[in-house]
Formats: sequence, structure tokens, C-alpha cells
Amino acid sequence: TEVVSHLLAEAFSSCGDLAEAMRQVCRRLEGAFTLVAVHADAPDVVVGARRNSPLVVGVGEGESFLASDVAAFIAHTRSAIELGQDQVVEARRDGVTVTDFDGAPAEVRSYHVDWDASAAEKDGYASFMLKEIAEQPKAVADTLLGRIDAEGALTLDEVRIPAAVLREADKVVIVACGTAFHAGLIAKYAIEHWTRLPCEVELASEFRYRDPILDRRTLVVAISQSGETMDTLMALRHAREQGAKVLAICNTNGSTIPRESDAVLYTHAGPEVAVASTKAFLTQLVACYLVALYLGQRRGTKWGDEIRDVIRDLGRIAGEVERVLATMEPVRALARTLKDKRTVLFLGRHVGYPVALEGALKLKELAYMHAEGFAAGELKHGPIALVEPDLPVVVVVPSPRGRSVLHGKIVSNIQEIRARGARTIVIAEEGDEAVVPYADHLIRIPATPTLLQPLVATVPLQVFACELATARGNEVDQPRNLAKSVTVE
Ligand code: AGP
Repeated sequence: TEVVSHLLAEAFSSCGDLAEAMRQVCRRLEGAFTLVAVHADAPDVVVGARRNSPLVVGVGEGESFLASDVAAFIAHTRSAIELGQDQVVEARRDGVTVTDFDGAPAEVRSYHVDWDASAAEKDGYASFMLKEIAEQPKAVADTLLGRIDAEGALTLDEVRIPAAVLREADKVVIVACGTAFHAGLIAKYAIEHWTRLPCEVELASEFRYRDPILDRRTLVVAISQSGETMDTLMALRHAREQGAKVLAICNTNGSTIPRESDAVLYTHAGPEVAVASTKAFLTQLVACYLVALYLGQRRGTKWGDEIRDVIRDLGRIAGEVERVLATMEPVRALARTLKDKRTVLFLGRHVGYPVALEGALKLKELAYMHAEGFAAGELKHGPIALVEPDLPVVVVVPSPRGRSVLHGKIVSNIQEIRARGARTIVIAEEGDEAVVPYADHLIRIPATPTLLQPLVATVPLQVFACELATARGNEVDQPRNLAKSVTVE
């Protein structure tokens, strides 16, 4: 960027116009950038440019704003403009002008930022993370709002992908990173169960390098809270080049990933400020369930009454999450006793396995502890060698209802690790008595349909990680080495 500023100074000295100077310089640059420049000899103008990196414009009364995120200016204006790829914006008191790098006027989309200003404040919570954990019931409810008609059927008209394309799809591929990737792993179970379509879930950073098999009958779902994650953006670009249709699931209106997708289903978690994702994850799950049901509805593999049953169950989840949040004091107390531990393992089966991965990620990124999630069935294939006396192991237990085979197997897993001295922390449904003899710590969650259990099982793991990190004196909103949006590959 220092080189860029010298290039700008040179260009400005020859053309005398800062926006034109920016355009000349941008045409020479490679790679991803967001640039904002002022010049001592051009006091009335601020010029910005972007390629593969966020830049958003705020247009106020007699003032304009350039920022990487609307949160920076919503206290002054709610009128925002999305900037497209390779565009230059000239911001003056009386408004803004947007062109491409060659100087041609650019089509821009204005939108109203509907966050309330308090959304960017902590509202009395010790951290944004605690606030956002507490906001999850509302976030889940808001993400369902307006997407179910009076008869209980799905109305996802905003997913502007022709019904024929959805009907002809022969494969779903989910691309995402980190916590969003864990949401994709859970979505796979729902999509395959409700639509009978094969569903692959790929780490976006690996996806395009393995030369994936994609064509016009592939539906790619890109999950991203920020909508600016470079790995995910590059993955969806690759998919579109191969002819696939891309549906974004995103929490940030006007961000790059939805703009470069064929359709978008926005989550309505509200702004997520803490780096460690919580409410965005739960709303990503809700959105994934809606997409799976919508595919089932459009393809006729899921009938109205079945969809209504699932929607009814989804409608209850916000209340169930509220109930879980009200019983978290023992989880916080337990977390504080483990603050000096060196490692924690997390086990799960079926949709509980990605929940175990998410619980481990939360502990890594917040407490800076080694934490690892495993499919419980994998224990005997190696990881059980890690088990030693007093090693904390969190186990996410599937529902015992219907005498689930999975439930019996995971109870055996708990016995195996306890026999080797592990300290078992068991997350199990209310009424599940089979686990009681083997749980050193028992965390109860409400009974939910199997596929929806992650919506309630994840919450104790978020609280656990946040409390343990706080007990270690860590800054939970801005953990070391991490960024909220990873806009580099
Ligand atoms: C989640 O707690 C992490 N902050 C991180 O893994 C995040 O989920 C990942 O970087 C993807 O971000 P995105 O959802 O904005 O694309």
C-alpha cells in the first residue's frame, strides 16, 4: 500500500484529478485490495476503490462515508451503496460518483441498513459474545420470520433460482469455512434426508484445488456470515465458472458473496461483532434447514404435511434455546474449574459430530487451548490413546427416543473413556437416564427432533468456551491472531 500511495501521488501530479489517478493506479494493481485516499491538494474529495475486498459507502445529508462495514457509519446514515468488483468511488459533500477502473459510470445498488444503532453496542453485556449468545432465540425466530405462509408451508420467494433448476439439480455442494463449514456438515444430514440428493460439504480453501466435478445440475450453497470470506468467494467463483448455480446463505446484506451468487437466503441474526461466531451459526443452521425443506418441496420429495411438521418444530426452537440459556450457570461453574487444563476432547455422532467440531473450534479460538472434535465411533481407531485420567471429554448424546442405535453406541463410548479415567461432560436430553451413571457432569438440553438437536446442543458449548476463556483472562470478542472476516486467502 505504500507503493500504491506513491503511484497515486505520481498519477495525481500528472492528471490533477484524484479519482482519475486512482483509476490509473488500480489498472496497474494485482491482487485483492480496498483503497481509500485523500490528497492535500484535493481537500473536498475522498476516493476509494475495491477488488475482492469489502468497501461500502454511506450517503448522508451533505456528507458521505467510506468504510469496510456499515457498522462504522450507521450512527450517521442508514443509506448505503454496495460497491461492485473493480470500482472506484468519488465521495464529496454533495454525493458520490462510482465508475469502473476505466472511468465508465457503474450501476450501483442502494439499500437501507435496517440494523438499530444499539446492535453495534454491548447493551450492558460484558462482551459482544455474551450479548450475541443471549440474542440467539431472537435471531432464530427472526430468520424464520416471513418465510412460512399461513398454512405453514415454506415461502422462500427470495431464493430466486427457477424451480426447474432446483428440480433438475442432481447434487448439492456446500462450501464454507470454520464455523460456517460446521453448519454445512449438519446441513448435509438434513438435505440428504429430506431431498434424497447427494450432498458434499467442502472446506472452501480446499475446494477448487481438487478439481471438483461440477456442472449446470450442481447446486452450490456458499455459507458465510460476513459474505466477504475470500476462500468462500473464490470457491463460489470457481463453481460458477463450471456452470453450477450458487445459492448464498449470508448474514450481511450487500456483501460480496451474495452479490456474486445466483440467489441468496439471508440469515437475520443481526450484526455479529464478536469474532467467534455464535448466533450466526444457529441462524445458518435454520437457513440450511429451510433450504433443504425448500428443495424437498420443489422436488416433491417432501410433502406439505411433513414440511409443516418440521416447520412447527423449527418454530419451537427459539423457545428451547431460551430454556437452555436459562440453565447455563452449572456450565459456567464447570468451565471455570477447567481453566488450567491443557486440552479438551469433544465427541459426537451423526449431527452431534459437527457439533463436537464446533465446540472444539470455540475452545481453540477463545481459550487458546488444544481442543479436538471426533466422531465418537472413531475413538477405537486411534484417538482413545489420548484418553488419560482426568482428561475432560465433552460428549454430545443423540436422542434416546426410538431406542436409537446411535444412542446405545455413544453410551458405550462414554463407558470406554470413563473406564480409562476421562472426566465425562455429557450433553444429553432431558429424560435420558441411560447416561447418568457415566456422566461426571451432566448438561441437560430439551428433547428435539434428531436433525434439529444441534440448535440446542451447541449453546452449552458456546457458553462453556466463553466462560473458560474469560477465566483464563482472555479477550473474548477479539481473540488473538483472528479476524472477524478473513478477506485474504
Ligand atoms: C467462527 O467462530 C470463526 N470466527 C470462523 O471460523 C468463521 O466461521 C469463518 O472464518 C467463516 O467466516 P464467514 O462465516 O464470515 O464466512
